[in-house]
Amino acid sequence: MAEDRGGTAILEVSHVTKRFGGLTALDDVTFRVEEGEIRGLIGPNGAGKSTMFKNIAGFYTPSSGDIRYRGQSIAGRKPHNIAELGVVRTFQETTLFQELCVFDNVLVGCHIRARSNLVAAILGLDRGRQRAARDKVDEVLEFMGLEDRRHQLASELPLGSQRALAIAIALACEPKLLLMDEPFAGMNAEETRHMMNLTRRVRESGISVVLVEHDMKAVMGLCGYLTVLNFGQLLAEGTPEEIRHDDRVIGAYLGGVR
Ligand SMILES: Nc1ncnc2c1ncn2[C@@H]1O[C@H](COP(=O)(O)OP(=O)(O)OP(=O)(O)O)[C@@H](O)[C@H]1O
Ligand SMILES: [Mg+2]
Repeated sequence: MAEDRGGTAILEVSHVTKRFGGLTALDDVTFRVEEGEIRGLIGPNGAGKSTMFKNIAGFYTPSSGDIRYRGQSIAGRKPHNIAELGVVRTFQETTLFQELCVFDNVLVGCHIRARSNLVAAILGLDRGRQRAARDKVDEVLEFMGLEDRRHQLASELPLGSQRALAIAIALACEPKLLLMDEPFAGMNAEETRHMMNLTRRVRESGISVVLVEHDMKAVMGLCGYLTVLNFGQLLAEGTPEEIRHDDRVIGAYLGGVR
């Protein structure tokens, strides 16, 4: 059973199972995320972490079980519907429009995700709404430290800025719960430090975060509590210190982690 640590739940995953044909990618997984935390969701390759995110964000429907966001069931709803409620994920794979500039990536990316009215506002004749939409994009670019790169093509950005842009796109959808899938992958030490600071800023702005990540320095440094999956099942939960010393987690994952 998921441990109740006394806070207000922003997300409750209850007995979620996801099958693909004969393969059970998620097997009766239960955990809850508190309002205002950065939760780590870790485990070996193929453990079901990205599949969990896709179920939460509405890209997949659970085979069974329920997912509640602020007390309301969201399992099986459409992704744009869930994004509008405030649950947005960043993608493990890069999904930037390489030939668009940074500013337009936020504008278009957010529209595609949340079907927000940003593009409609830009194309429309209402100058007040055009201004508001552009201001929103400027605000998230500044928040992520990308304001000086607003006219650069996404293809010209270094890795750290591409990842920051992916988060800016998600932030333009005004999430309350941000699901980040491996934002640190492939980063050098300095990029990692910078992304850790950005992630803390996101949380400080009032957004709860679930972080899927193999970089244990980032996970242990950012997260107050960790949920560990293994072969689609909940293996363990605890503080970074508890998880670091958990023999089951060491055996299944941390013993061989890069
Ligand atoms: N659409 C799908 N169809 C069939 N099998 C799938 C599908 N998506 C995921 N799987 C399988 O589900 C399991 C969990 O995959 P998932 O991508 O969630 O793992 P992960 O924990 O994110 O791994 P990684 O750390 O490598 O990103 C794997 O065995 C994978 O092959
Ligand atoms: Mg994954």
